[in-house]
Amino acid sequence: MSDPEGEFPVDELFAAEELKHLADEISAHDRAYYQNDTPMISDADYDVLRQRNQAIEARFPDLVRDDSPSKRVGAPAASGFSKVAHRKPMLSLGNAFSEDDVTEFVERIRRFLSLTEDQLIEIVAEPKIDGLSVNCRYERGKFVLGATRGDGATGENITENLRFVAELPATLAGTDFPDVLEVRGEVYMAKSDFQALNARQEAAGNKIFANPRNAAAGSLRQLDSSVTASRTLSIFAYSLGEVSASVATSQSELLQRFKDWGFPINPLTGVCASVDEIVALHSKIEAARSGLDYDIDGMVYKVNRFDWQDRLGFVSRAPRWAIAHKFAAEQAQTRLNDITIQVGRTGALTPVANLEPVTVGGVVVSRATLHNEDEIARKDVREGDMVIIQRAGDVIPQVVSAVIEKRPADSRAFVFPTVCPQCGSHAVREEGEVVRRCTGGLVCPAQAVERLKHFVSRNAFDIEGLGGRNIEAFWNDKLIATPTDIFKLSERHADFEGREGWGEKSVDNLFAAIEVRRHIELPRFIFALGIRQVGQATARLLAKHYGSFDGWMAAMETAASDPESECYQELIDIDGVGPAVAKDILEFVSEHHNRTVLEELKGLLEIAAYETPQGNSSPISGKTVVFTGTLEKVGRNEAKAKAESLGAKVAGSVSKRTDFVVAGPGAGSKLKKAEELGVAVMSEDEWLALVDA
Ligand code: IVH
Repeated sequence: MSDPEGEFPVDELFAAEELKHLADEISAHDRAYYQNDTPMISDADYDVLRQRNQAIEARFPDLVRDDSPSKRVGAPAASGFSKVAHRKPMLSLGNAFSEDDVTEFVERIRRFLSLTEDQLIEIVAEPKIDGLSVNCRYERGKFVLGATRGDGATGENITENLRFVAELPATLAGTDFPDVLEVRGEVYMAKSDFQALNARQEAAGNKIFANPRNAAAGSLRQLDSSVTASRTLSIFAYSLGEVSASVATSQSELLQRFKDWGFPINPLTGVCASVDEIVALHSKIEAARSGLDYDIDGMVYKVNRFDWQDRLGFVSRAPRWAIAHKFAAEQAQTRLNDITIQVGRTGALTPVANLEPVTVGGVVVSRATLHNEDEIARKDVREGDMVIIQRAGDVIPQVVSAVIEKRPADSRAFVFPTVCPQCGSHAVREEGEVVRRCTGGLVCPAQAVERLKHFVSRNAFDIEGLGGRNIEAFWNDKLIATPTDIFKLSERHADFEGREGWGEKSVDNLFAAIEVRRHIELPRFIFALGIRQVGQATARLLAKHYGSFDGWMAAMETAASDPESECYQELIDIDGVGPAVAKDILEFVSEHHNRTVLEELKGLLEIAAYETPQGNSSPISGKTVVFTGTLEKVGRNEAKAKAESLGAKVAGSVSKRTDFVVAGPGAGSKLKKAEELGVAVMSEDEWLALVDA
C-alpha cells in the first residue's frame, strides 16, 4: 500500500504513476468489497487511499484519469443476476472526518445557495447503517423490483431475495402513494442475527462470516433464494429513487411518509439547526453505538429542504447536499496468544494474530490481521502481548498496538519466517515489496489449494457444489491437483463410492455442474487462472481486446518471446494493463507448468470467444473512443457504459489507434493530441445523436 502519511508527490510524473496505482488499488478493493464480500483492508485504510487520490487530483487536475475512483462508485454488478439500470443513479457520499469538515460542509452550502448568516439550514442527521444499499420499486403500491446499487448506474436484480426481508412491505400501507415509487434504504443483518447465523454455520461446517455486513451481502446476493429465506435481514429506508409524483418537500417529511407506508426508519434520526447540534448528536450516537443491535459506521447529514437539494445538485460521485461523518474505530484490549502465517494463492505470507476472544463493538473477534512483516516490526507486536485491536469501519479487525506496560518480562520480538510454513520452500521479498512470498509455486500445497479455490470461485468457474471445503478435501485425498483434474473428476467415479457425505445423487449433481462449466466465457476463464494483478476487470479487458483464447495465447507467446514486438506494445497499450501487469501475465504464460495446464484445459473446455454485447450492427462497434472534458447531458460513466454496450472500446488516452474523441467543455491535452494526430473529434450532442440513433 502507498504511504498515506508521506508527502504528496510534487513531481508530475510521479503523481501520474501514483494516480494510476491508486486507481488500480482502489478498484481492487472495491471489487473485493462489493462483489466478493471479502474486504482486504479496513474502511479507515480505504478512506486514506481515496483521500490521497483526491488530494493528488486537486493538485494535478490535468492528471485526473478517466478511470479515477473519484468518478465512480462501487464495483460493476457481478454476474449471475440479471442487470437493472437505475432510473436515478445511486450515488455515494463524500466524507467528513472532523467538526471542521462539518462546519465547512454547512458553510459551502450557505455560499452555494447565497444564504445569509442568519438563515437557518436544517440538517437531517441519520445513522449511517453498515449494510448494502438497495432500490425497491413499487408500482401501484406493490413491490415489483429490487436491485443492489452495483456501480451506481446498474445493479443486480435481487427482487426475489428482497421478498424475504420481512420488514420490507410487499404492499404499501394506506392509499396515498404515487403509481411509481422507488424507495432506497440499507439492508443489514442485526448483530444478534449475525451471531446466531455464524453459530449455525459453524455447527454445520459452513463458511463463517467476518462481520454482519458481509453476512448481509452474502445472504442477499444469493442465487438460491431459499438460502436468503433462511437468514434474517432487516432494512431502514432513507431516500427516494424514481417517483411518478412528488411525495414530500423535505427529508424529514419523506421519512414520515416512509413510516406511514410501512417502512422501518431509523429511530435515532434527528433534525439539527446548527453545527453544534449536529456534533452533539454525533457524539451521543457514537457513545450509544456499541449497545445498538446493528452496525453503524458514522452519521449521514442531509440538507432537509428538497428544493435546496435540487439546487445544490451533485459533484462527480456525491451530492453537495449530503455528507457522511464517520466514527472513530471501535477498540478493545485483549491477549495476543500467538502469530500464525497464512499462505495465499500467490504465495504471499500473511501474519495473523490469534487472540483471546473479545467483544469489539458488539462482535466477538478472535483473529486479526497483522498485514505484513514490516508492520509487525514497526509496531513491535509480540506473542503474549496485550494488544489493542480495532474494527475500523467494522471490516477486518486490526492490531493497532501492543500495550508495552503489560508486556511479559520474557517476551521476545517476533521473527518472521524466511521459509514457507506450508512447503518449506524459501520465502523471499523482492526489492520494493512489502510482501514475502513463497517460491514453491506449484509444489506449495497452500498455493495450489488457494489457486484451485480461486479457479472455482463465484466470478471464475463458479461450479455449484464445489466450494472451498470440497476443494480442500479433494486435494487432500489426491482427487484433484490441478484445474484440469476437475474436468476429469467423473472418471474417478469409483473414488466417490462410500465417500462420507456423498450420496449417488450429490455425486451426479456435482458431475453435472462440472459438465455445464465445460463451456466457459473467455473473461471468466482468464480471471480463473489467478494471474497476479489480473482481476475481473483486467480479464475482461484482455478478452475484449483479443477476442478468443487462441488469439490471446498467440499474442502472449509473441509478446513474451520478444519485448520489442508489436504484440508486446499492443498489450501494454491496453488501457488498464501497462508494463507491470503485462509482466505478470507474460511470466505466467512463460512458465512451463502453466503452459501445460493451459494446453490441457483448452482440450477439455469450450472457451467461448468474447462477444461484444450488441454484435456488429452499431455504428461504433469495434471502434475505440476517448471521452474528455465535462459531459453535460449524460455522466461520464453512463456515456462509457453506452459506448461499451454498443461494442466500442473506451480508452483512457488518445493514440493513433483512437477512432474518435468525444470532447466536452474543459477538454485539454487529450483534445490537443487528437487534433495533432488527426483523430476525429465530436461534441457531446453529436455523440448522443450517433448512439441514440
Ligand atoms: S443516503 C446520495 N443515508 O452509505 C446519497 N446512505 O456512502 C445516498 N448509507 O450508498 C445515500 N446509511 O449504502 C444514505 N442514512 C443513510 C445511509 C446511507 C447508510 C450508505 C449507503 C450509501 C453509502 C454512501
